Amino acid sequence: MTQLHPDPAPDFDQPVAVLKHCHGRIRKQLSTLEKLLTHLPLSQAETGGADEQARQAAQAVLKYFEKAAHLHHDDEEQDLIPMLRAVARGEDAATLQALAPTILQDHKDMDAMWQDLHEQLTAIADGSGTQLSASTVQRFSQRYLSHMEREESTMAPMAMRLFSPEQMAQLGQAMRQRRNIEPSGGGSAGANAATASACEPAAKAIGERVADLRKDYGQASLDENGVDADPILQFTRWFEEALKAEVNEPNAMSVATVGADGRPSSRIVLVKQFDARGFTWYTNYDSQKGRELAGKPFACLLFFWSELERQVRIEGTVERTSAEESDKYFNSRPLKSRLSAIASEQSAPIASRAALEHNYEETARQYGEAPPRPSDWGGFRLVPERIEFWQGRRSRFHDRIVYTRQEDGSWTRQRLQP
Ligand SMILES: Cc1cc2nc3c(=O)[nH]c(=O)nc-3n(C[C@H](O)[C@H](O)[C@H](O)COP(=O)(O)O)c2cc1C
Repeated sequence: MTQLHPDPAPDFDQPVAVLKHCHGRIRKQLSTLEKLLTHLPLSQAETGGADEQARQAAQAVLKYFEKAAHLHHDDEEQDLIPMLRAVARGEDAATLQALAPTILQDHKDMDAMWQDLHEQLTAIADGSGTQLSASTVQRFSQRYLSHMEREESTMAPMAMRLFSPEQMAQLGQAMRQRRNIEPSGGGSAGANAATASACEPAAKAIGERVADLRKDYGQASLDENGVDADPILQFTRWFEEALKAEVNEPNAMSVATVGADGRPSSRIVLVKQFDARGFTWYTNYDSQKGRELAGKPFACLLFFWSELERQVRIEGTVERTSAEESDKYFNSRPLKSRLSAIASEQSAPIASRAALEHNYEETARQYGEAPPRPSDWGGFRLVPERIEFWQGRRSRFHDRIVYTRQEDGSWTRQRLQP
């Protein structure tokens, strides 16, 4: 078994090369892990436990996957993929759309497999255990290898083709910041420091585990100041990012209402407009939600953009949009949707699908090409009083910033614990 030494890495001026270099480091750690698997029974036969070599190997693998692998995943999730999404067009965009969810899922699955290995490796490293699951090691290793191959054959060449020198510099800078590495400024000492730790956090940030957590808190409080003072503008920013990231149904949101008996109910609707006045969706006023809102005009909206690991919770009072607004939106809908809205007594029971179709045919016959908006169909606008932005973070140490509207219409904001 060999002890691994950091090998020379490219500078962050070539971020794609750095990413590939990290793959090299990961491959070496996987190979150490596989060698450890064959070494452990031999060591056990001779010494009755994990020998010094096995301990050192376990420590090296632990150190890499605990401290460095997630930085590499973050490089891809937070910078490389969003930046590629912003510039990819046509076939590249289609490739990316198909590939990105797989890459993100791989990261999650590999993280989960790592949790299983982590415990066993910790025991080997501190001499208290000798168990290492061969099947988990093999699954972990195979998943990583095919994952890296996939990235090297698609995303890396795409980035090389599509990124301008400025975008390369932006990517390199983000990766540097993630590792707390100062820009080299062309000086050789700085360049060497960056080179030596291209795949790992800077020595300053490695520290003790608890110190790392404190560092995380410190970085998050910077983000807190980075959000917009106006939650609607902050929401607009996130919504645009959701559109750019092509998340599934970005305007789908859950609307929770409360019945006269105090019981909550929720369902998905599509937000059709949002601005300083609030968040608007259209529905049937006699539906369950419509009746519940008539009795208790309060609701909670929830957006979940899983691809970005974000949710937004919005609470407030609900009012009806004006008849003019509802007409305008109704008339902008495709004819069949307008006819459906008239034909369906939303939320009321009906005997069969055939009866529903029959009602639609009758409505179409009656109104032809220009059906009027029925009086029981229109918009609801939630006027927000509380808006919470939630960003998923590693180890469930998520960021939550909540805005609360004051009586004078201004907003205060504060951080909530995850
Ligand atoms: C993605 C999606 C979008 C939807 N959009 C709307 C909508 O904009 N308006 C609406 O009334 N129902 C919409 N629905 C249907 C609602 O979820 C729900 O079934 C319906 O409004 C009746 O709810 P209620 O009985 O609780 O009033 C949507 C459902 C899904 C899954």
